Amino acid sequence: MSRSSWRRFLEGAGGISLEWDSPMACHTTLRVGGAVACLARPHTLEALRGLLARVRDEGVPWFLLGGGSNILAPDNPMDAVAVRLGAFAGEIGPAKMAGDEVQVYVGGGVRMACWLRFCLRHGLRGMEFLAGIPGTVGGGLWMNAGADGGCMADGLLWLDCLDASGERIRLERRELEARYRSMGCARGWVLLGGCFRLRPGKREAVRKRLKYLVNRRREVQPSSRRTAGCVFKNPPGSSAGRLLDRAGVKGMRVGDAQVSRRHANWIVNRGRARSRDVLTLMERMEKRVRESFGIRLEREIQVVEF
Ligand code: EPU
Repeated sequence: MSRSSWRRFLEGAGGISLEWDSPMACHTTLRVGGAVACLARPHTLEALRGLLARVRDEGVPWFLLGGGSNILAPDNPMDAVAVRLGAFAGEIGPAKMAGDEVQVYVGGGVRMACWLRFCLRHGLRGMEFLAGIPGTVGGGLWMNAGADGGCMADGLLWLDCLDASGERIRLERRELEARYRSMGCARGWVLLGGCFRLRPGKREAVRKRLKYLVNRRREVQPSSRRTAGCVFKNPPGSSAGRLLDRAGVKGMRVGDAQVSRRHANWIVNRGRARSRDVLTLMERMEKRVRESFGIRLEREIQVVEF
């Protein structure tokens, strides 16, 4: 299908904000990437379902864009539709008491920081490990984001999602094969939200824990916001950061993409880095670790390709 004909059907669909030729550099924390043909924000669940049904039928390439904090978009223009969840996925609640725990639903489009603020305001414990993790709840759920021994799968009761045929389903935690940095969801699913189990506590205790974790991260992770978090996953029983550090990659640079001098598993965009620079640097980092320790690092950053 030609681009002009998918432009026509997208413009004809109701309840969706469309942005044409939208620079991915504006939608990713690394601030890298060329234009995506269309950025679509459906305002309602029905509009989202209609949109997905149509792009699937017509074979239009598409992907779901969360907070853009864990992706590397290509420099070249992408003939694809980036779908971002609209306000309908931005709600927190309802919350209900169940014995001595509180169960709260949170939409996939909610920013992680907003979710944490909600927990802090209501003195709810259990999500503090998310302190400082950027992006959206939907993206975090997909990746099973985690830090400091906690991950999103831990407190999750059930997931609210659209499966690959667009059907809305509720998946209980035990039905998911969650593991390190993956919730085990199949490609093509859309995570609309999830319900978490939290413990009531004192607001001051939550605040203290958040402050402690943020400060500790500040000491070891780069201060620049132009990053995409850890580049590689930790290999079983080891630490990618330590291996990369020993392999001597700190400060290594390709164009304006540079390995942080503070943490060897982070790449910082010093200003005008291109996607190609970041990718070349990642390849060099992988090669160093492979040659020094015979270990193949697995990428945590999702490289978007079309
Ligand atoms: N280390 C070095 N040199 C470095 C960096 C780290 O020797 O340049 C050593 C540290 O001294 C430490 C070990 O490596 O002994 C682990 O480092 P760190 O505590 O920084 O944790 P990490 O394993 O690198 C993980 C997550 C982070 C999360 C932190 C805090 C992964 C790949 N990374 O980092 O998650 O914030 O723990 O809990 O699982 C992310 O996934 O994007 C991310 C930032």
